[in-house]
Amino acid sequence: MIAINNISQHYGSSQILWELDLQISTGSCTCIMGRNGAGKTTLLKCLMGLLPISSGEILLEGVPLHTKAAEDRAPAGIGYVPQGRDIFPLLTVEENLRIGLGVRKDKAKHLPEKIFELFPVLHDMLQRRGGDLSGGQQQQLAIARALVIDPKVLILDEPNEGIQPNIVQQIGDVILQLNAEGMTVILIEQKLGFARRVGREFRLMERGRIVASDKMENLNDQLIRQYMSV
Ligand SMILES: Nc1ncnc2c1ncn2[C@@H]1O[C@H](COP(=O)(O)OP(=O)(O)OP(=O)(O)O)[C@@H](O)[C@H]1O
Ligand SMILES: [Mg+2]
Repeated sequence: MIAINNISQHYGSSQILWELDLQISTGSCTCIMGRNGAGKTTLLKCLMGLLPISSGEILLEGVPLHTKAAEDRAPAGIGYVPQGRDIFPLLTVEENLRIGLGVRKDKAKHLPEKIFELFPVLHDMLQRRGGDLSGGQQQQLAIARALVIDPKVLILDEPNEGIQPNIVQQIGDVILQLNAEGMTVILIEQKLGFARRVGREFRLMERGRIVASDKMENLNDQLIRQYMSV
């Protein structure tokens, strides 16, 4: 469903992504893993149009995505939870969530009930300012905001960075549930235990390239030693 073909990306004169290929099939749950600085976040930003690619193409169900402006990529059905969450600290939880509504093609006026079933804590905190939530609650808010658009694909960039274990567990449950209901998930994850619990497939990145791709059960110690910081 998502085909990233031969993309390269540069920050000025330094090349970060090198003729990278990545295929994500519909309904899969894929973990992208690799050391700090491998280019994982850069890859997702290229996918979302937040960074320009220098060559190559990105297709969503066969339709070019890389030629669309960034603001037209979420409405194409992609929910994105950026690294570091990026919620609006001065806006309330409700206002943060409503931003997602503006992106929906169907002009829905009400927040979907589903997000409060997944994250009941947000319902109790609708009028609280985003910046006053705990780190774990902010992460739940960021995921819920991505889900407001009812995406076909959910992309999460290290959702568990600096978050307490019980919320990590809950976020894992939510991802598993959404994937079981048919949502395609792309997850950047450094924590091996979480990746193994949630991911069905893995892709390992090193220096701007995909260097290994397989089913999660085939992620062995040799690959982990070679390409991950553990
Ligand atoms: N705005 C920028 N200008 C120049 N170089 C950048 C910029 N942002 C990132 N880089 C460089 O691009 C490379 C890839 O960074 P990226 O953030 O994609 O890595 P990552 O795999 O997501 O790392 P992490 O696991 O730490 O999040 C790094 O060498 C980084 O220093
Ligand atoms: Mg990153």
